[in-house]
Amino acid sequence: MATASASAPGKLMLFGEHAVIYGRPAIVTAVNQRITVELAARREGIRLTSPSLGIKNEEIKLGANSYSKDVRFVAQTLALFSSQFGNPGGMDILIHSEFKKTYGFGSSSAVTVALASALCKKTAVKLSEKELFDFCYSVVLSVQGVGSGFDIAAAIWGGTLYFVGGGKQIIPLKTSSLPLVVGYTGVKADTPAIVREVRRLVAKRKEWANRLFSQIKSVVEQAKTALENEDMYALGGLMNQNQAFLVKLGVSSPQLDRLISASINAGAYGAKLSGAGKGDCMIALVEEKNRPRVEEAIRSAGGEILNVKLNAEGVK
Ligand code: MEV
Repeated sequence: MATASASAPGKLMLFGEHAVIYGRPAIVTAVNQRITVELAARREGIRLTSPSLGIKNEEIKLGANSYSKDVRFVAQTLALFSSQFGNPGGMDILIHSEFKKTYGFGSSSAVTVALASALCKKTAVKLSEKELFDFCYSVVLSVQGVGSGFDIAAAIWGGTLYFVGGGKQIIPLKTSSLPLVVGYTGVKADTPAIVREVRRLVAKRKEWANRLFSQIKSVVEQAKTALENEDMYALGGLMNQNQAFLVKLGVSSPQLDRLISASINAGAYGAKLSGAGKGDCMIALVEEKNRPRVEEAIRSAGGEILNVKLNAEGVK
């Protein structure tokens, strides 16, 4: 019997990836695929079971660094929680995931948020959403060193957010779910590695990169208004502009380009990569009557269609 449980959604970046690392805004939405964490009391020690990670009853030592990346998020959440709020005691942790972690929906962030929330419940620690954000963001930074925290914000607040790097601004946007088609390239992106690669480029071409990020910022600001007005033509055009800037930044890929062109040729309002790039997913904004054509075009170009709904509920 679980003594505490919580679930958190994955995310899709709509606008502003990479520029958000450099202080610009981004727009992110939560998806209706979730990770659930259940905690059950145990006399001593911590054991982790996660069928999707292929882990059964693995002993977790707080903060130990020798684990695989996914388990490191768990161990680090437990260690930081213990040092900030007191030892949560022995427990069995069970993690269920509704999505394949290869899709780039932010499984590590969803695990961190769901586990931190369940630990708060187990120990009767009360945190505001912003305090939970700051805690989970510190876990992400201590495990992978880089990241804007947008995926943590999506997992906590849910819905669709206007987000400024590090959580300087987190504004829920009033918008209904967008008619998006999500196409998976079949290639898993290594987000921290791509973020570091962009960082090296930015160091070499500072002024050029700053101009590019400011242009992306302008696209994001316009997209915020277009989203609030549900202006699909404007949004589609802005997605294309954002994609052109990401191509200049060098983070698209032949697979992404193929799926994006196929969706535009099949009548999408606009399309772009979503996330770090070089793989993972692309998104295309469509008129509902065009959805089957666009989906077929993406499949024919080698993509896999992922059926996700946007604007999903945050951690609960
Ligand atoms: C990755 O999904 C989006 C990036 O902007 C990284 C981040 O914001 O943490 C590339």
